[in-house]
Amino acid sequence: MLEPSLGDFMDIRADELVNLIYEKSREAFNIIKRYVHRTPVDLSRSFSQMTEYKVFLKYENLQKTGSFKVRGALFKVYNLMLQGVRGVVAASAGNHAQGVAFAAQIFGLRAVIVMPLTASIAKVEATRSYGAEVILHGTVYDEAETFAKRISEEQGLAFVHPFDDVDVIAGQATIAWELLEQLEDFDAIVVPIGGGGLVSGIISVLKRVKPEIKIIGVEAEHAPKMYESIRSGKPVTISPKPSIADGLVTKKPGEITFAIVSRFIDDIVTVSEEEIAMAIHLLLERGKVLAEGAGAASLAALISGKVKLRKGMKVVALVTGGNIDATALYRVLLRGLLNQGRIARLRGEVLDVPGSLERVLSVIAGHRGNVLDIKHDRYELRASPWHAVVEILVEVPSRKVAQEILRDLKVKGFDFELID
Ligand SMILES: Cc1ncc(COP(=O)(O)O)c(C=O)c1O
Repeated sequence: MLEPSLGDFMDIRADELVNLIYEKSREAFNIIKRYVHRTPVDLSRSFSQMTEYKVFLKYENLQKTGSFKVRGALFKVYNLMLQGVRGVVAASAGNHAQGVAFAAQIFGLRAVIVMPLTASIAKVEATRSYGAEVILHGTVYDEAETFAKRISEEQGLAFVHPFDDVDVIAGQATIAWELLEQLEDFDAIVVPIGGGGLVSGIISVLKRVKPEIKIIGVEAEHAPKMYESIRSGKPVTISPKPSIADGLVTKKPGEITFAIVSRFIDDIVTVSEEEIAMAIHLLLERGKVLAEGAGAASLAALISGKVKLRKGMKVVALVTGGNIDATALYRVLLRGLLNQGRIARLRGEVLDVPGSLERVLSVIAGHRGNVLDIKHDRYELRASPWHAVVEILVEVPSRKVAQEILRDLKVKGFDFELID
């Protein structure tokens, strides 16, 4: 359990911020309703069975632009338009970029989005498709942000921060208003934390309207900045590692988000890369839902048993986004199949004479194993004399079947092992 250490000053400021965001979020809900989807929320029988809770999923992966980020961007850009700005500029490798580009298109403002050179082609193209000017600059987000701020000053465009902004947070808070209309009651909500804008918005509404609802934050183990900051009693900068939940990778929480989250969050848990990957996999296979890493993190926290709540509670998990590259998805699914033992990698030696490989393959076929890939290397220097090294990637119904294949190969004189 997270043990916060905070002074009174933070508490007073957090209360004021929450009140302000609460008021703004009601206005935001009225404004952005016209432009966003009211995303569905459903009880998931599969995930309820896997946990001790009644699990409800809210599908923000089906939101316009593929993530909830468009909510905050719309309310922020709307307010900027009222103030008469000439245009907006933002830095992002992902969902914030698309949200701001979409919002600027709706309100007829110029949008310049700085994306790091490492941003995926799919995300760059999606951002351009909303009419934004995309500039590729820097290898990491920080460099893109510095450049975006320079453009903001030089060209008089308003910089739109991805999370540390009361209007952006009020926009994200509209998810909470929507949920309160959709679900008669619920006991807890699990929310992924990047910079903390989303969870600050959820807190600002729920802690005012239904303070008994538990709010649990989820961070990637590779980027636990809010967790570490709360433990230290002030926002700290961490050195995050890359994560499949790229939307959750930030170095430091915001000033506003830290004040709110540290005062009001009930708990923060962290999830591993394996747990996130497994949640993406399960959402797709069981739920027919395509989620990106950050979008699957809240479910990962529930399935892994890290969220500790009373058995039988009604728990909402926010599936916050679905923008995952085909290549990233492919890797996640392959990893998942390997972990579940549904794909096995076998390695062994065969005598380098005609027919040896065929005999190995017939054993595999006898167990209905489907060969995906074979490497047959007769030049491997470490192989026994007159032998070739063979590595076979095979699809099997279960790990037990892979073990049976190994056993039958042994009976036929082939010494193979499972290497994945
Ligand atoms: C899909 C998704 N989920 C969650 C988050 C975290 O949101 P926040 O940075 O407001 O905490 C992000 C942030 O980009 C995101 O893209």
